[in-house]
Amino acid sequence: PLQRLKDEILSVTSSKESEGSVNVDGDGNESTVSITVVGASGDLAKKKIFPALFALYYEDCLPKHFTIYGYARSKMTDAELRNMVSKTLTCRIDKRENCNVKMDEFLGRCFYHPGQYDSQENFAELDKKLKEHEVGRISNRLFYLSIPPNIFVDAVKCASTSASSANGWTRVIVEKPFGRDSESSAALTKSLKQYLTEDQIFRIDHYLGKELVENLSVLRFSNLIFEPLWSRQYIRNVQLIFSEDFGTEGRGGYFDHYGIIRDIMQNHLLQILALFAMETPVSLDAEDIRNEKVKVLRSMRPIQLEDVVIGQYKSHTKGNVKYPAYTDDKTVPKDSLTPTFAAAALFIDNARWDGVPFLMKAGKALHTKRAEIRVQFRHVPGNLYNRNFGTDLDRATNELVIRVQPDEAIYLKINNKVPGLGMKLDRSNLNLHYAARYSKEIPDAYERLLLDAIEGERRLFIRSDELDAAWSLFTPVLKELEETKINPEYYPYGSRGPVGAHYLAARYGVRWG
Ligand code: NDP
Ligand code: BG6
Repeated sequence: PLQRLKDEILSVTSSKESEGSVNVDGDGNESTVSITVVGASGDLAKKKIFPALFALYYEDCLPKHFTIYGYARSKMTDAELRNMVSKTLTCRIDKRENCNVKMDEFLGRCFYHPGQYDSQENFAELDKKLKEHEVGRISNRLFYLSIPPNIFVDAVKCASTSASSANGWTRVIVEKPFGRDSESSAALTKSLKQYLTEDQIFRIDHYLGKELVENLSVLRFSNLIFEPLWSRQYIRNVQLIFSEDFGTEGRGGYFDHYGIIRDIMQNHLLQILALFAMETPVSLDAEDIRNEKVKVLRSMRPIQLEDVVIGQYKSHTKGNVKYPAYTDDKTVPKDSLTPTFAAAALFIDNARWDGVPFLMKAGKALHTKRAEIRVQFRHVPGNLYNRNFGTDLDRATNELVIRVQPDEAIYLKINNKVPGLGMKLDRSNLNLHYAARYSKEIPDAYERLLLDAIEGERRLFIRSDELDAAWSLFTPVLKELEETKINPEYYPYGSRGPVGAHYLAARYGVRWG
Protein backbone atom coordinates (compact mmCIF):
# COMPACT_ATOMS: atom_id res chain seq x y z
CA PRO A 1 0.00 0.00 0.00
CA LEU A 2 2.85 2.39 0.78
CA GLN A 3 4.35 1.82 -2.63
CA ARG A 4 0.95 2.41 -4.16
CA LEU A 5 0.50 5.65 -2.28
CA LYS A 6 3.94 6.77 -3.39
CA ASP A 7 3.18 5.91 -7.01
CA GLU A 8 -0.13 7.73 -6.77
CA ILE A 9 1.55 10.89 -5.48
CA LEU A 10 4.25 10.61 -8.11
CA SER A 11 1.77 9.98 -10.88
CA VAL A 12 -0.10 13.16 -9.92
CA THR A 13 3.13 15.15 -9.76
CA SER A 14 4.35 13.73 -13.01
CA SER A 15 1.13 14.31 -14.94
CA LYS A 16 1.64 17.96 -14.02
CA GLU A 17 5.21 17.70 -15.24
CA SER A 18 4.08 16.35 -18.53
CA GLU A 19 2.20 19.53 -19.24
CA GLY A 20 5.57 21.08 -20.01
CA SER A 21 8.47 19.44 -21.74
CA VAL A 22 8.48 15.73 -20.93
CA ASN A 23 12.16 15.85 -20.17
CA VAL A 24 12.30 18.79 -17.76
CA ASP A 25 10.29 19.20 -14.58
CA GLY A 26 9.12 22.45 -13.00
CA ASP A 27 12.49 22.97 -11.32
CA GLY A 28 14.39 22.46 -14.55
CA ASN A 29 15.49 18.95 -13.59
CA GLU A 30 16.15 16.65 -16.48
CA SER A 31 14.40 13.30 -16.67
CA THR A 32 14.45 10.07 -18.64
CA VAL A 33 11.61 8.00 -19.98
CA SER A 34 12.30 4.26 -20.07
CA ILE A 35 9.91 2.24 -22.17
CA THR A 36 9.84 -1.51 -21.57
CA VAL A 37 8.05 -3.64 -24.13
CA VAL A 38 7.06 -6.75 -22.19
CA GLY A 39 6.66 -9.57 -24.73
CA ALA A 40 9.14 -7.95 -27.11
CA SER A 41 9.66 -11.18 -29.05
CA GLY A 42 5.99 -11.30 -30.07
CA ASP A 43 3.91 -10.41 -33.10
CA LEU A 44 2.43 -7.12 -31.89
CA ALA A 45 5.76 -5.79 -30.62
CA LYS A 46 7.44 -6.42 -33.97
CA LYS A 47 4.52 -5.38 -36.14
CA LYS A 48 3.30 -2.30 -34.30
CA ILE A 49 5.08 -1.20 -31.13
CA PHE A 50 8.70 -0.89 -32.24
CA PRO A 51 7.75 0.67 -35.61
CA ALA A 52 5.51 3.18 -33.81
CA LEU A 53 8.27 4.09 -31.36
CA PHE A 54 10.66 4.60 -34.25
CA ALA A 55 8.14 6.80 -36.08
CA LEU A 56 7.84 8.94 -32.93
CA TYR A 57 11.61 9.19 -32.71
CA TYR A 58 11.83 10.05 -36.40
CA GLU A 59 9.32 12.86 -35.88
CA ASP A 60 11.22 14.15 -32.84
CA CYS A 61 8.29 13.37 -30.58
CA LEU A 62 10.17 11.27 -28.05
CA PRO A 63 11.82 12.99 -25.12
CA LYS A 64 15.53 13.79 -25.38
CA HIS A 65 16.46 11.10 -22.89
CA PHE A 66 14.70 7.85 -23.59
CA THR A 67 15.60 4.18 -23.54
CA ILE A 68 13.66 1.25 -24.94
CA TYR A 69 13.98 -2.15 -23.37
CA GLY A 70 12.62 -5.36 -24.81
CA TYR A 71 11.69 -7.93 -22.18
CA ALA A 72 10.62 -11.53 -22.84
CA ARG A 73 11.61 -15.09 -22.03
CA SER A 74 13.36 -15.71 -25.37
CA LYS A 75 17.11 -15.58 -25.19
CA MET A 76 18.34 -12.63 -27.23
CA THR A 77 21.22 -10.18 -27.05
CA ASP A 78 20.85 -6.43 -27.59
CA ALA A 79 22.28 -6.94 -31.09
CA GLU A 80 19.75 -9.66 -31.87
CA LEU A 81 16.88 -7.50 -30.68
CA ARG A 82 18.14 -4.63 -32.85
CA ASN A 83 18.43 -6.93 -35.80
CA MET A 84 14.86 -8.20 -35.25
CA VAL A 85 13.46 -4.69 -34.79
CA SER A 86 15.34 -3.22 -37.77
CA LYS A 87 13.45 -5.52 -40.13
CA THR A 88 10.13 -3.84 -39.44
CA LEU A 89 11.18 -0.19 -39.33
CA THR A 90 10.21 2.02 -42.25
CA CYS A 91 10.67 5.69 -43.06
CA ARG A 92 7.02 6.42 -42.57
CA ILE A 93 6.84 9.95 -43.85
CA ASP A 94 8.38 9.21 -47.18
CA LYS A 95 9.25 5.60 -47.88
CA ARG A 96 11.70 6.63 -50.60
CA GLU A 97 13.64 8.67 -48.12
CA ASN A 98 16.78 7.20 -46.66
CA CYS A 99 16.50 7.37 -42.92
CA ASN A 100 19.23 4.91 -42.06
CA VAL A 101 21.01 7.38 -39.81
CA LYS A 102 17.86 7.90 -37.75
CA MET A 103 17.27 4.15 -37.63
CA ASP A 104 20.78 3.52 -36.35
CA GLU A 105 20.38 6.22 -33.72
CA PHE A 106 17.06 4.71 -32.67
CA LEU A 107 18.36 1.15 -32.56
CA GLY A 108 21.27 2.35 -30.43
CA ARG A 109 18.69 3.25 -27.77
CA CYS A 110 17.09 -0.23 -27.84
CA PHE A 111 18.22 -2.93 -25.41
CA TYR A 112 17.02 -6.34 -24.37
CA HIS A 113 16.68 -8.16 -21.09
CA PRO A 114 15.56 -11.80 -21.02
CA GLY A 115 13.38 -12.83 -18.10
CA GLN A 116 10.32 -14.65 -16.84
CA TYR A 117 7.07 -12.71 -16.49
CA ASP A 118 6.57 -13.87 -12.90
CA SER A 119 10.12 -13.40 -11.62
CA GLN A 120 10.73 -10.58 -9.17
CA GLU A 121 14.41 -11.32 -9.54
CA ASN A 122 14.42 -10.89 -13.31
CA PHE A 123 12.48 -7.62 -13.05
CA ALA A 124 14.92 -6.43 -10.38
CA GLU A 125 17.75 -7.09 -12.87
CA LEU A 126 15.83 -5.10 -15.44
CA ASP A 127 15.47 -2.30 -12.89
CA LYS A 128 19.24 -2.20 -12.49
CA LYS A 129 19.77 -2.01 -16.23
CA LEU A 130 17.19 0.73 -16.63
CA LYS A 131 18.96 2.75 -13.95
CA GLU A 132 22.22 2.56 -15.87
CA HIS A 133 20.61 4.48 -18.74
CA GLU A 134 18.62 6.95 -16.72
CA VAL A 135 19.82 10.54 -16.97
CA GLY A 136 18.72 13.36 -14.68
CA ARG A 137 17.01 13.39 -11.34
CA ILE A 138 13.72 11.90 -12.45
CA SER A 139 13.18 8.59 -14.18
CA ASN A 140 9.76 7.84 -15.62
CA ARG A 141 8.85 4.34 -16.64
CA LEU A 142 6.36 3.01 -19.12
CA PHE A 143 5.66 -0.72 -19.42
CA TYR A 144 3.80 -1.99 -22.47
CA LEU A 145 2.18 -5.39 -21.79
CA SER A 146 2.34 -7.02 -25.18
CA ILE A 147 1.78 -10.51 -23.82
CA PRO A 148 -1.13 -12.95 -23.56
CA PRO A 149 -3.73 -11.86 -20.98
CA ASN A 150 -3.21 -14.81 -18.61
CA ILE A 151 0.17 -13.36 -17.62
CA PHE A 152 -0.83 -9.66 -17.34
CA VAL A 153 -1.16 -9.78 -13.56
CA ASP A 154 2.13 -11.62 -12.94
CA ALA A 155 3.99 -9.12 -15.09
CA VAL A 156 2.30 -6.13 -13.43
CA LYS A 157 3.03 -7.50 -9.98
CA CYS A 158 6.74 -7.90 -10.76
CA ALA A 159 7.10 -4.67 -12.72
CA SER A 160 5.39 -2.61 -10.02
CA THR A 161 7.24 -4.18 -7.11
CA SER A 162 10.69 -4.69 -8.57
CA ALA A 163 11.02 -2.26 -11.46
CA SER A 164 8.76 0.74 -10.85
CA SER A 165 10.27 4.19 -10.82
CA ALA A 166 11.56 5.38 -7.47
CA ASN A 167 11.26 9.07 -8.28
CA GLY A 168 9.03 9.55 -11.32
CA TRP A 169 5.86 8.08 -12.74
CA THR A 170 5.25 4.42 -13.58
CA ARG A 171 2.56 3.68 -16.16
CA VAL A 172 1.42 0.43 -17.70
CA ILE A 173 -0.22 0.05 -21.09
CA VAL A 174 -2.47 -2.99 -21.07
CA GLU A 175 -3.47 -4.63 -24.34
CA LYS A 176 -6.85 -6.19 -24.94
CA PRO A 177 -8.53 -8.53 -24.21
CA PHE A 178 -9.59 -7.14 -20.84
CA GLY A 179 -11.35 -10.31 -19.77
CA ARG A 180 -13.96 -12.23 -21.71
CA ASP A 181 -17.09 -11.17 -19.77
CA SER A 182 -18.17 -8.89 -16.92
CA GLU A 183 -16.91 -11.27 -14.27
CA SER A 184 -13.44 -11.96 -15.66
CA SER A 185 -12.97 -8.31 -16.59
CA ALA A 186 -13.85 -7.22 -13.04
CA ALA A 187 -11.46 -9.83 -11.66
CA LEU A 188 -8.66 -8.54 -13.92
CA THR A 189 -9.31 -4.95 -12.88
CA LYS A 190 -9.30 -5.96 -9.21
CA SER A 191 -6.01 -7.81 -9.60
CA LEU A 192 -4.35 -4.98 -11.50
CA LYS A 193 -5.50 -2.51 -8.87
CA GLN A 194 -3.66 -4.46 -6.19
CA TYR A 195 -0.49 -3.12 -7.77
CA LEU A 196 -1.47 -0.02 -9.74
CA THR A 197 -3.80 2.92 -9.35
CA GLU A 198 -6.38 3.58 -12.08
CA ASP A 199 -4.24 6.56 -13.16
CA GLN A 200 -1.34 4.27 -13.90
CA ILE A 201 -3.35 1.87 -16.06
CA PHE A 202 -3.61 2.72 -19.76
CA ARG A 203 -6.05 0.25 -21.35
CA ILE A 204 -5.48 0.47 -25.05
CA ASP A 205 -8.09 0.24 -27.78
CA HIS A 206 -6.11 1.08 -30.85
CA TYR A 207 -9.23 2.12 -32.79
CA LEU A 208 -9.36 5.21 -30.59
CA GLY A 209 -5.98 6.19 -32.02
CA LYS A 210 -7.17 6.05 -35.62
CA GLU A 211 -7.23 9.41 -37.32
CA LEU A 212 -10.88 9.40 -38.35
CA VAL A 213 -12.08 8.13 -35.01
CA GLU A 214 -10.25 10.99 -33.31
CA ASN A 215 -11.76 13.33 -35.84
CA LEU A 216 -15.32 12.30 -34.94
CA SER A 217 -15.57 14.85 -32.15
CA VAL A 218 -14.05 17.57 -34.31
CA LEU A 219 -16.57 16.85 -37.03
CA ARG A 220 -19.47 16.97 -34.60
CA PHE A 221 -18.52 19.75 -32.25
CA SER A 222 -16.66 22.20 -34.42
CA ASN A 223 -18.99 22.32 -37.41
CA LEU A 224 -22.36 23.95 -37.08
CA ILE A 225 -23.95 21.82 -39.76
CA PHE A 226 -23.67 18.35 -38.21
CA GLU A 227 -24.54 18.58 -34.52
CA PRO A 228 -28.10 19.92 -35.02
CA LEU A 229 -28.84 16.89 -37.20
CA TRP A 230 -27.26 14.41 -34.79
CA SER A 231 -30.39 12.87 -33.27
CA ARG A 232 -33.41 10.67 -33.80
CA GLN A 233 -35.12 13.62 -35.43
CA TYR A 234 -32.95 13.44 -38.53
CA ILE A 235 -31.01 10.19 -38.36
CA ARG A 236 -32.75 6.95 -39.35
CA ASN A 237 -29.97 4.56 -38.47
CA VAL A 238 -26.25 4.34 -37.87
CA GLN A 239 -24.08 1.51 -39.16
CA LEU A 240 -20.70 0.54 -37.77
CA ILE A 241 -18.97 -1.81 -40.13
CA PHE A 242 -15.71 -3.71 -39.80
CA SER A 243 -14.56 -6.24 -42.33
CA GLU A 244 -11.30 -7.97 -43.13
CA ASP A 245 -10.51 -9.85 -46.31
CA PHE A 246 -8.40 -12.42 -44.49
CA GLY A 247 -9.13 -15.02 -41.84
CA THR A 248 -7.72 -15.53 -38.38
CA GLU A 249 -4.45 -16.73 -39.93
CA GLY A 250 -1.91 -17.43 -37.20
CA ARG A 251 -4.16 -16.20 -34.36
CA GLY A 252 -6.74 -18.99 -34.34
CA GLY A 253 -5.72 -20.19 -30.88
CA TYR A 254 -6.39 -16.78 -29.34
CA PHE A 255 -9.43 -16.09 -31.48
CA ASP A 256 -11.27 -19.29 -30.70
CA HIS A 257 -11.42 -18.35 -27.04
CA TYR A 258 -12.90 -14.93 -27.83
CA GLY A 259 -14.75 -14.77 -31.17
CA ILE A 260 -15.55 -11.73 -33.26
CA ILE A 261 -18.03 -10.15 -30.81
CA ARG A 262 -15.36 -9.86 -28.11
CA ASP A 263 -12.53 -9.24 -30.57
CA ILE A 264 -14.09 -6.32 -32.46
CA MET A 265 -17.62 -5.36 -31.37
CA GLN A 266 -17.39 -5.07 -27.59
CA ASN A 267 -14.36 -2.80 -27.90
CA HIS A 268 -13.50 -1.21 -31.26
CA LEU A 269 -17.02 -0.72 -32.64
CA LEU A 270 -18.59 0.09 -29.28
CA GLN A 271 -15.96 2.73 -28.59
CA ILE A 272 -16.72 4.36 -31.93
CA LEU A 273 -20.43 4.20 -31.14
CA ALA A 274 -19.89 5.89 -27.77
CA LEU A 275 -17.90 8.74 -29.34
CA PHE A 276 -20.46 9.07 -32.09
CA ALA A 277 -23.46 9.22 -29.77
CA MET A 278 -22.20 10.99 -26.63
CA GLU A 279 -23.43 14.39 -25.53
CA THR A 280 -21.11 17.41 -25.74
CA PRO A 281 -18.45 16.98 -23.06
CA VAL A 282 -17.83 19.82 -20.63
CA SER A 283 -14.29 20.13 -22.01
CA LEU A 284 -11.71 18.16 -23.93
CA ASP A 285 -10.31 16.88 -20.67
CA ALA A 286 -9.98 13.07 -20.60
CA GLU A 287 -12.36 12.67 -17.65
CA ASP A 288 -15.03 14.88 -19.20
CA ILE A 289 -14.96 12.89 -22.43
CA ARG A 290 -14.91 9.54 -20.68
CA ASN A 291 -17.80 10.62 -18.44
CA GLU A 292 -19.92 11.25 -21.52
CA LYS A 293 -18.94 7.95 -23.11
CA VAL A 294 -19.91 6.06 -19.96
CA LYS A 295 -23.30 7.80 -19.92
CA VAL A 296 -24.05 6.60 -23.45
CA LEU A 297 -22.98 3.05 -22.67
CA ARG A 298 -25.08 3.01 -19.54
CA SER A 299 -28.12 4.26 -21.47
CA MET A 300 -27.94 1.33 -23.84
CA ARG A 301 -30.28 -1.63 -23.78
CA PRO A 302 -28.57 -5.01 -23.14
CA ILE A 303 -28.39 -6.76 -26.49
CA GLN A 304 -31.14 -9.31 -27.19
CA LEU A 305 -30.38 -12.69 -28.71
CA GLU A 306 -32.87 -12.10 -31.54
CA ASP A 307 -30.92 -8.97 -32.46
CA VAL A 308 -27.74 -10.91 -33.16
CA VAL A 309 -26.69 -12.94 -36.17
CA ILE A 310 -23.50 -14.99 -36.11
CA GLY A 311 -21.49 -16.64 -38.86
CA GLN A 312 -18.32 -18.61 -39.43
CA TYR A 313 -16.32 -18.81 -42.64
CA LYS A 314 -16.01 -22.04 -44.55
CA SER A 315 -13.51 -22.94 -47.24
CA HIS A 316 -13.91 -21.63 -50.74
CA THR A 317 -12.12 -22.37 -53.99
CA LYS A 318 -11.59 -19.61 -56.51
CA GLY A 319 -9.74 -20.61 -59.65
CA ASN A 320 -6.77 -22.63 -58.49
CA VAL A 321 -6.73 -21.14 -55.02
CA LYS A 322 -8.39 -22.87 -52.10
CA TYR A 323 -9.14 -20.56 -49.19
CA PRO A 324 -9.31 -22.37 -45.82
CA ALA A 325 -12.24 -22.72 -43.48
CA TYR A 326 -11.87 -21.25 -39.98
CA THR A 327 -11.76 -24.77 -38.56
CA ASP A 328 -8.91 -25.76 -40.92
CA ASP A 329 -6.62 -23.85 -38.55
CA LYS A 330 -4.79 -26.49 -36.52
CA THR A 331 -5.17 -24.47 -33.32
CA VAL A 332 -8.99 -24.37 -33.70
CA PRO A 333 -11.15 -27.35 -32.62
CA LYS A 334 -12.85 -28.99 -35.61
CA ASP A 335 -16.28 -28.57 -34.04
CA SER A 336 -15.77 -24.95 -33.00
CA LEU A 337 -18.89 -22.76 -33.09
CA THR A 338 -16.92 -19.55 -32.50
CA PRO A 339 -18.29 -16.74 -34.66
CA THR A 340 -15.93 -15.12 -37.14
CA PHE A 341 -18.80 -12.86 -38.24
CA ALA A 342 -21.53 -11.11 -36.29
CA ALA A 343 -24.18 -8.50 -36.91
CA ALA A 344 -26.17 -6.89 -34.12
CA ALA A 345 -28.77 -4.21 -33.54
CA LEU A 346 -28.18 -1.94 -30.53
CA PHE A 347 -30.32 0.79 -29.03
CA ILE A 348 -29.64 3.80 -26.85
CA ASP A 349 -32.58 4.57 -24.59
CA ASN A 350 -32.12 8.28 -24.19
CA ALA A 351 -33.88 11.36 -25.51
CA ARG A 352 -31.45 11.89 -28.37
CA TRP A 353 -31.38 8.36 -29.78
CA ASP A 354 -34.67 6.74 -28.73
CA GLY A 355 -35.66 4.19 -31.42
CA VAL A 356 -32.66 4.71 -33.70
CA PRO A 357 -31.06 1.37 -34.59
CA PHE A 358 -27.28 1.27 -34.32
CA LEU A 359 -26.32 -1.68 -36.46
CA MET A 360 -22.93 -3.30 -36.07
CA LYS A 361 -21.37 -5.75 -38.46
CA ALA A 362 -17.94 -7.31 -38.06
CA GLY A 363 -16.36 -10.16 -39.92
CA LYS A 364 -13.20 -11.90 -40.97
CA ALA A 365 -12.53 -13.52 -44.37
CA LEU A 366 -15.04 -11.31 -46.16
CA HIS A 367 -14.79 -9.86 -49.68
CA THR A 368 -13.22 -6.59 -48.63
CA LYS A 369 -11.19 -4.83 -45.94
CA ARG A 370 -12.85 -1.75 -44.52
CA ALA A 371 -13.97 0.00 -41.35
CA GLU A 372 -16.58 2.68 -41.63
CA ILE A 373 -19.43 4.53 -40.00
CA ARG A 374 -22.49 5.11 -42.15
CA VAL A 375 -25.17 7.53 -41.05
CA GLN A 376 -28.43 7.27 -42.95
CA PHE A 377 -30.66 10.32 -42.66
CA ARG A 378 -34.44 10.41 -42.78
CA HIS A 379 -36.48 11.13 -45.90
CA VAL A 380 -37.13 14.74 -46.82
CA PRO A 381 -40.75 15.34 -45.74
CA GLY A 382 -42.98 16.15 -48.72
CA ASN A 383 -40.03 15.90 -51.08
CA LEU A 384 -40.96 17.64 -54.35
CA TYR A 385 -38.59 15.38 -56.21
CA ASN A 386 -39.76 12.02 -54.93
CA ARG A 387 -41.04 11.01 -58.36
CA ASN A 388 -37.47 11.15 -59.64
CA PHE A 389 -36.64 8.15 -57.53
CA GLY A 390 -39.59 5.95 -58.53
CA THR A 391 -40.39 3.50 -55.77
CA ASP A 392 -36.85 3.38 -54.42
CA LEU A 393 -37.21 6.27 -52.02
CA ASP A 394 -34.25 5.06 -49.96
CA ARG A 395 -32.05 6.28 -52.74
CA ALA A 396 -33.20 9.82 -52.11
CA THR A 397 -31.98 10.05 -48.53
CA ASN A 398 -28.71 11.58 -47.49
CA GLU A 399 -25.96 9.42 -46.12
CA LEU A 400 -22.79 10.48 -44.35
CA VAL A 401 -19.93 8.01 -44.58
CA ILE A 402 -16.87 8.19 -42.39
CA ARG A 403 -14.38 5.77 -43.86
CA VAL A 404 -11.96 4.97 -41.07
CA GLN A 405 -9.84 2.74 -43.29
CA PRO A 406 -8.46 2.10 -45.80
CA ASP A 407 -8.13 5.27 -47.87
CA GLU A 408 -9.56 7.56 -45.20
CA ALA A 409 -12.44 9.77 -46.31
CA ILE A 410 -15.56 11.55 -45.15
CA TYR A 411 -18.25 11.91 -47.76
CA LEU A 412 -21.83 13.01 -47.81
CA LYS A 413 -24.22 11.59 -50.35
CA ILE A 414 -26.52 14.28 -51.65
CA ASN A 415 -29.06 14.57 -54.42
CA ASN A 416 -28.04 16.73 -57.30
CA LYS A 417 -29.46 17.81 -60.61
CA VAL A 418 -27.67 16.25 -63.54
CA PRO A 419 -26.47 19.23 -65.59
CA GLY A 420 -28.50 19.69 -68.74
CA LEU A 421 -31.85 20.82 -69.99
CA GLY A 422 -33.96 18.07 -68.44
CA MET A 423 -34.69 17.53 -64.73
CA LYS A 424 -32.85 14.39 -63.88
CA LEU A 425 -31.55 13.78 -60.38
CA ASP A 426 -28.41 12.04 -59.47
CA ARG A 427 -26.70 11.00 -56.23
CA SER A 428 -23.36 12.61 -55.79
CA ASN A 429 -20.71 12.79 -53.09
CA LEU A 430 -19.37 15.82 -51.31
CA ASN A 431 -16.06 14.19 -50.66
CA LEU A 432 -13.21 14.88 -48.26
CA HIS A 433 -10.67 12.40 -49.48
CA TYR A 434 -7.69 12.50 -47.16
CA ALA A 435 -5.05 11.40 -49.68
CA ALA A 436 -6.11 14.20 -52.02
CA ARG A 437 -6.47 16.87 -49.32
CA TYR A 438 -3.47 16.14 -47.09
CA SER A 439 -0.06 15.24 -48.39
CA LYS A 440 1.31 14.01 -45.07
CA GLU A 441 0.93 10.35 -44.28
CA ILE A 442 -1.47 9.54 -41.46
CA PRO A 443 0.29 8.25 -38.33
CA ASP A 444 -0.43 4.72 -37.20
CA ALA A 445 -2.84 4.51 -34.26
CA TYR A 446 -0.11 3.06 -32.03
CA GLU A 447 2.06 6.15 -32.54
CA ARG A 448 -0.60 8.48 -31.19
CA LEU A 449 -1.43 6.20 -28.28
CA LEU A 450 2.16 5.63 -27.23
CA LEU A 451 2.82 9.34 -27.33
CA ASP A 452 -0.30 10.00 -25.26
CA ALA A 453 0.76 7.44 -22.67
CA ILE A 454 4.20 9.04 -22.41
CA GLU A 455 2.58 12.45 -21.99
CA GLY A 456 0.03 11.20 -19.48
CA GLU A 457 -2.93 11.97 -21.75
CA ARG A 458 -5.72 9.50 -20.93
CA ARG A 459 -8.41 10.68 -23.34
CA LEU A 460 -7.94 7.79 -25.75
CA PHE A 461 -7.64 5.05 -23.13
CA ILE A 462 -10.46 3.07 -21.55
CA ARG A 463 -11.44 3.83 -17.96
CA SER A 464 -12.53 0.91 -15.79
CA ASP A 465 -16.17 2.06 -15.52
CA GLU A 466 -16.36 2.29 -19.34
CA LEU A 467 -15.10 -1.25 -19.52
CA ASP A 468 -17.69 -2.44 -16.99
CA ALA A 469 -20.48 -0.75 -18.93
CA ALA A 470 -19.27 -2.26 -22.21
CA TRP A 471 -19.20 -5.76 -20.74
CA SER A 472 -22.65 -5.34 -19.16
CA LEU A 473 -24.09 -4.83 -22.61
CA PHE A 474 -22.51 -7.87 -24.21
CA THR A 475 -22.10 -10.42 -21.42
CA PRO A 476 -25.73 -11.70 -21.22
CA VAL A 477 -26.03 -12.28 -24.96
CA LEU A 478 -22.58 -13.88 -25.18
CA LYS A 479 -23.55 -16.26 -22.38
CA GLU A 480 -26.83 -17.12 -24.12
CA LEU A 481 -25.09 -17.75 -27.45
CA GLU A 482 -22.57 -20.03 -25.81
CA GLU A 483 -24.90 -21.87 -23.45
CA THR A 484 -27.47 -22.61 -26.12
CA LYS A 485 -24.68 -23.53 -28.56
CA ILE A 486 -26.22 -21.56 -31.39
CA ASN A 487 -24.86 -22.69 -34.73
CA PRO A 488 -23.25 -19.96 -36.78
CA GLU A 489 -24.40 -19.42 -40.35
CA TYR A 490 -21.57 -20.63 -42.61
CA TYR A 491 -20.35 -18.27 -45.31
CA PRO A 492 -17.68 -18.85 -47.95
CA TYR A 493 -14.26 -17.28 -47.40
CA GLY A 494 -14.17 -14.05 -49.41
CA SER A 495 -17.97 -13.61 -49.59
CA ARG A 496 -20.20 -10.84 -48.22
CA GLY A 497 -21.05 -12.86 -45.12
CA PRO A 498 -24.26 -14.53 -43.93
CA VAL A 499 -27.54 -13.49 -45.48
CA GLY A 500 -29.00 -13.38 -41.95
CA ALA A 501 -27.33 -9.99 -41.49
CA HIS A 502 -29.59 -8.61 -44.23
CA TYR A 503 -32.73 -10.01 -42.60
CA LEU A 504 -31.70 -8.50 -39.29
CA ALA A 505 -31.19 -5.08 -40.88
CA ALA A 506 -34.43 -5.39 -42.84
CA ARG A 507 -36.35 -5.96 -39.58
CA TYR A 508 -35.38 -2.42 -38.66
CA GLY A 509 -36.00 -1.04 -42.14
CA VAL A 510 -32.29 -0.77 -42.84
CA ARG A 511 -30.24 -1.65 -45.88
CA TRP A 512 -26.52 -2.14 -45.23
CA GLY A 513 -24.33 0.40 -46.97
P1 NDP B 1 2.14 -13.32 -28.88
O1 NDP B 1 1.38 -14.60 -28.82
O2 NDP B 1 3.07 -13.12 -30.03
O3 NDP B 1 2.90 -13.21 -27.48
C1 NDP B 1 3.85 -12.21 -27.17
C2 NDP B 1 5.02 -12.84 -26.42
O4 NDP B 1 4.54 -13.35 -25.18
C3 NDP B 1 5.61 -14.02 -27.14
O5 NDP B 1 6.62 -13.62 -28.03
C4 NDP B 1 6.15 -14.86 -26.01
O6 NDP B 1 7.45 -14.38 -25.69
C5 NDP B 1 5.24 -14.56 -24.84
N1 NDP B 1 4.25 -15.62 -24.69
C6 NDP B 1 3.40 -16.12 -25.61
N2 NDP B 1 2.64 -17.09 -25.09
C7 NDP B 1 3.01 -17.20 -23.79
C8 NDP B 1 2.57 -18.01 -22.72
N3 NDP B 1 1.60 -18.91 -22.87
N4 NDP B 1 3.17 -17.86 -21.52
C9 NDP B 1 4.12 -16.95 -21.35
N5 NDP B 1 4.57 -16.15 -22.35
C10 NDP B 1 4.03 -16.27 -23.54
O7 NDP B 1 1.12 -12.14 -28.75
P2 NDP B 1 0.91 -10.87 -29.67
O8 NDP B 1 2.20 -10.16 -29.83
O9 NDP B 1 0.15 -11.26 -30.87
O10 NDP B 1 -0.09 -10.00 -28.77
C11 NDP B 1 0.28 -9.46 -27.54
C12 NDP B 1 -0.94 -8.89 -26.85
O11 NDP B 1 -1.52 -7.92 -27.68
C13 NDP B 1 -2.03 -9.92 -26.57
O12 NDP B 1 -2.68 -9.57 -25.38
C14 NDP B 1 -2.97 -9.75 -27.75
O13 NDP B 1 -4.28 -10.13 -27.43
C15 NDP B 1 -2.87 -8.25 -27.99
N6 NDP B 1 -3.15 -7.85 -29.36
C16 NDP B 1 -2.44 -8.39 -30.40
C17 NDP B 1 -2.69 -7.97 -31.69
C18 NDP B 1 -1.91 -8.50 -32.86
O14 NDP B 1 -2.18 -8.08 -33.99
N7 NDP B 1 -0.95 -9.38 -32.66
C19 NDP B 1 -3.74 -6.96 -32.00
C20 NDP B 1 -4.39 -6.43 -30.81
C21 NDP B 1 -4.10 -6.89 -29.56
P3 NDP B 1 8.56 -15.25 -25.00
O15 NDP B 1 8.29 -16.69 -25.31
O16 NDP B 1 9.84 -14.77 -25.61
O17 NDP B 1 8.45 -14.93 -23.57
C1 BG6 C 1 -7.40 -6.33 -33.25
C2 BG6 C 1 -8.08 -7.66 -33.41
O1 BG6 C 1 -7.80 -5.71 -32.07
O2 BG6 C 1 -7.72 -5.51 -34.35
C3 BG6 C 1 -7.72 -8.31 -34.72
O3 BG6 C 1 -7.69 -8.51 -32.34
C4 BG6 C 1 -7.95 -7.37 -35.88
O4 BG6 C 1 -8.46 -9.49 -34.91
C5 BG6 C 1 -7.31 -6.03 -35.62
O5 BG6 C 1 -7.41 -7.96 -37.04
C6 BG6 C 1 -7.70 -5.02 -36.68
O6 BG6 C 1 -6.95 -3.86 -36.51
P1 BG6 C 1 -6.64 -2.91 -37.75
O7 BG6 C 1 -6.01 -1.73 -37.15
O8 BG6 C 1 -5.73 -3.70 -38.65
O9 BG6 C 1 -7.95 -2.65 -38.40
